[in-house]
Amino acid sequence: MHKLLLIILSIFLLSAMAVSQTFVGSDACATCHSTKYSDWKDSGHPYKFSVIENNQPPVYPSVAVNFEDTWMTDLGDGSHTWADIAGVIGGFGWKARFIGTDGYIIGTAGSSFSDAGGGHNQFNFYGGEAHGWVDYSASNTTKKYNYGCFKCHTTGGDTSGTWLSGVDGLGTFSEGGIGCESCHGPGSAHIAAPSKTNIDKVYEFAHQDNSIGGLDYGDGSVVTPDTEGNDVNFLCGTCHNRSYTSPINSSGGFIKHHEQWDEFLTTKHYKNGFTCITCHDPHKRTIWDGEGITKTCESCHSDKAAQINHSGAATCIDCHMPFAAKSGTTRGNSGYKGDIRSHLMIINPDTASMFTADMSAVKDDAERKAALSPRYACLGCHNNASDDNIPDKTIAQVSAAAVDMHSGTAIAPADLIKPSSFILKQNYPNPFNPTTTIAFELPYRTQVTVSVFNLEGRTVATLVNEELDAGQQTVRFNASDLPSGMYFYKLTTDNFTSIKRMMLIK
Ligand code: HEC
Ligand code: HEC
Ligand code: HEC
Ligand code: HEC
Ligand code: HEC
Ligand code: HEC
Ligand code: HEC
Ligand code: HEC
Repeated sequence: MHKLLLIILSIFLLSAMAVSQTFVGSDACATCHSTKYSDWKDSGHPYKFSVIENNQPPVYPSVAVNFEDTWMTDLGDGSHTWADIAGVIGGFGWKARFIGTDGYIIGTAGSSFSDAGGGHNQFNFYGGEAHGWVDYSASNTTKKYNYGCFKCHTTGGDTSGTWLSGVDGLGTFSEGGIGCESCHGPGSAHIAAPSKTNIDKVYEFAHQDNSIGGLDYGDGSVVTPDTEGNDVNFLCGTCHNRSYTSPINSSGGFIKHHEQWDEFLTTKHYKNGFTCITCHDPHKRTIWDGEGITKTCESCHSDKAAQINHSGAATCIDCHMPFAAKSGTTRGNSGYKGDIRSHLMIINPDTASMFTADMSAVKDDAERKAALSPRYACLGCHNNASDDNIPDKTIAQVSAAAVDMHSGTAIAPADLIKPSSFILKQNYPNPFNPTTTIAFELPYRTQVTVSVFNLEGRTVATLVNEELDAGQQTVRFNASDLPSGMYFYKLTTDNFTSIKRMMLIK
């Protein structure tokens, strides 16, 4: 009896607490947190959903080149005005979609705003280039802009009520876009009496229609939101994922967009306890040259930065975070360059596909750990475009060149690498039978001798005796006519000599 009363009382108290905190909107935070507010205003989060009021188009930061002026001229059959539009989805980073005043995404089945079969309902503009209009729902399914869509695009999304007058059952929200309170929770108590204790540093929430009630952390364990918790990965992961569980979904040869969480979970970055904000400032943008990245790759991986067997034409993220995912469009003519960067980071140099046989997910099993293929890491640049100066390559060529990219044994053209000193490297493989490779580096063009001698000091082979270019050089040694045993190889130049051992085992 007593126990039941307590339970009822605590349920009452909990719900009273919940109603006492309401969403007040991001503008209410601007006066006191002005820098955070202006950073956020220039990032993508606020523009995820713009409600159209008084027939006025949304206003985007000037950095976002999205061709907004042309939207109403070309949307659908060309007859639309802002008076037909209830809201714009996105339009900041990659693409824009439009909701008619009937609640349907324009162009999908049931929409009363026809596009006259033109398929002009999604405009793509990634990277400041107009990539044109496409047919968002070519399958012609019904798509109303309801909770299932906007749970990741608005603040305080709720399955009850409706956000659009005249259209029932869409669900509602407190603010279009990802406002301050998406990540910090409702702020009414905090603005009334600001203090650290009445606002969440990290607001853990779960989508109301998410059947697992939280997030799968990759090992099958489902983590649910903790009101006392401060798990940033949980916060970002709730929206930056696709199905709350693994795998990393793909289609059409690209990772699907909004799967940063799913990708991140497979990496050593995650396993080493990183969060999304190890690298990201949550208030700043990364695209359109924002300053949203607080730690460069080089700051932790100085060893890799010190040796890259490639010209400076490619940066760490060009190779390790290539556009292997797609939101709106593909670019270039390789077929391997979408418009969203991958967070897998690791590159498996082999020529195998990075996807499962049916291409529906990134392969991630005992046979092949989730990893980027050189198709995405390299061929996005090294494609057969005629309008660039980048040498065209095949998958076999980039695969071979990708091996040991950061070690001294890579086979790269001499002119790409200008070592600062002479180096003689350990042969590979070692022990060997009967052939092995010897690599060495020259800081300038010079006369070179590489010879092999046995334990008695007798020369058994002269592999090089000529003038060679600066850079990395390799030479093959074939010992098929020599007996097993220890041998020495020696590099001699105008002012450098070095000797190393190797073992022939037949
Ligand atoms: C009237 C001024 C004022 C307004 C308006 C205001 N804040 Fe604050 N905020 C503060 C002060 C003061 C602190 C405490 C700073 C401290 O103790 O270091 C704070 C702290 C915070 C913190 C840090 C909490 C922590 O655990 O460290 C967050 C997050 C925050 N505010 C978010 C918001 C959001 C979101 C809004 C809008 C809904 C908002 N604030 C509106 C003054 C304000
Ligand atoms: C995408 C999620 C996200 C959004 C949107 C967001 N924040 Fe934050 N904010 C965070 C996270 C995560 C932290 C915690 C950072 C940490 O622990 O270092 C934080 C920290 C803060 C702090 C604490 C001070 C600090 O630097 O540690 C304040 C104040 C704050 N945010 C205010 C705001 C305001 C005001 C807005 C809206 C203009 C906003 N935030 C929007 C995620 C967000
Ligand atoms: C599970 C969360 C989630 C759901 C559900 C979701 N999205 Fe998104 N969406 C995102 C995230 C995160 C991004 C940005 C990051 C990315 O694309 O990788 C995004 C990007 C977009 C963009 C591009 C924004 C821009 O500025 O270029 C559009 C348009 C969009 N989504 C439309 C939709 C529509 C329409 C639906 C419903 C059919 C939907 N989304 C459902 C999370 C979601
Ligand atoms: C409520 C859902 C939601 C949460 C929570 C959320 N995001 Fe987002 N995020 C989005 C959507 C949707 C977009 C696409 C917005 C657009 O570009 O129009 C986006 C875009 C981004 C972008 C690209 C746009 C830009 O400004 O560079 C980055 C980076 C990003 N989010 C990082 C984060 C990080 C880090 C966190 C956690 C601190 C986080 N997000 C939390 C939904 C969310
Ligand atoms: C804060 C430090 C830090 C930053 C910043 C960082 N890394 Fe790492 N990275 C690590 C650590 C630690 C590991 C794990 C090393 C290990 O366990 O062997 C790692 C692992 C990796 C791996 C192997 C991944 C795997 O899953 O096996 C790659 C590839 C990588 N980092 C690339 C990058 C790139 C590219 C960037 C920049 C976008 C970057 N890292 C930024 C610290 C960092
Ligand atoms: C030209 C493309 C390219 C560039 C530029 C590049 N990398 Fe790599 N990186 C590779 C390839 C390919 C591998 C895999 C080599 C292998 O497996 O033999 C690799 C391997 C790595 C690894 C080891 C991953 C593991 O297996 O644990 C790390 C860490 C890494 N790179 C970090 C960086 C950082 C940091 C930068 C920038 C300073 C950078 N890379 C620049 C292509 C590149
Ligand atoms: C190891 C560092 C690192 C970690 C950890 C990390 N990111 Fe990123 N992220 C980056 C870098 C670097 C970029 C690209 C910046 C650029 O384009 O200049 C980026 C870009 C993005 C983008 C924009 C995508 C695009 O196509 O440009 C989104 C969205 C994003 N990150 C979300 C997340 C989320 C969510 C998490 C956590 C699940 C996360 N990131 C973890 C380094 C990181
Ligand atoms: C950002 C674009 C870009 C990416 C990504 C890139 N490269 Fe390159 N690569 C170049 C350019 C540009 C050159 C020519 C450099 C020069 O002449 O200075 C080049 C040169 C090369 C060369 C010498 C080619 C020759 O025929 O002279 C090789 C080999 C190579 N890259 C391999 C790779 C591999 C392997 C990867 C992926 C792990 C890769 N590249 C990723 C742009 C890129």
